[in-house]
Amino acid sequence: MKGMVFTEFLGMVADRFSENMVDDIIEDSDLPSGGAYTSVGLYDHSEIVKLVESLSHRTGAPAPDLVKAFGHHLFGRLQTMHPEFVCGIDDALDFLESVDKVIHVEVMKLYPDAMLPRFETSREGNRLQMIYRSPRGMEDLAQGLIEGCMEHFSQVVRMERHKRPDGSTEFNLERLQ
Ligand code: HEM
Repeated sequence: MKGMVFTEFLGMVADRFSENMVDDIIEDSDLPSGGAYTSVGLYDHSEIVKLVESLSHRTGAPAPDLVKAFGHHLFGRLQTMHPEFVCGIDDALDFLESVDKVIHVEVMKLYPDAMLPRFETSREGNRLQMIYRSPRGMEDLAQGLIEGCMEHFSQVVRMERHKRPDGSTEFNLERLQ
């Protein structure tokens, strides 16, 4: 997993909690990297899982809520770092439909070692179905990113999320305004 994901996560922890909380969860997590992340480095996915668990333990907030909150934060950061992907799009569903076929394809060219999920999409007017597949199982992060995206476009979108028998996760989105 790209170091950028870790630096953004720890940045969110510093903003919402404190720098001390960052040091405490790194210490609690007993990480192979020692917690010294650079945005261009690559780290094991299990390290983010441990950091989230440690934060959950210290704050009492459920881990899935923390990961979703991170998704919101990360969406804001990604669009600041890569405004070209959002530029010219004024609808959340159009944007989300483009994540797999356009945005993550471009991300792969910029960062060939990125580990990205797959989204299978089907669109009918104001409805979009996204099926999320990833060996890392970060559906809470996907949900937070989707919610962050809706907020960015200031649209009201109803979301339903289901686990599928094959382990993938289905997001059914309906734009209400
Ligand atoms: C400006 C838009 C976006 C950019 C530039 C972007 C880029 C990235 C990058 C660099 C990573 C990290 C890869 C790694 O750790 O190796 C990532 C991971 C991920 N992205 Fe995106 N992304 C964008 C939007 C989205 C949106 C809107 C969603 C949700 C629908 C999404 C879903 C995910 C998920 C869930 C992961 C975690 C890896 C996994 O699940 O296997 N991304 N993305």
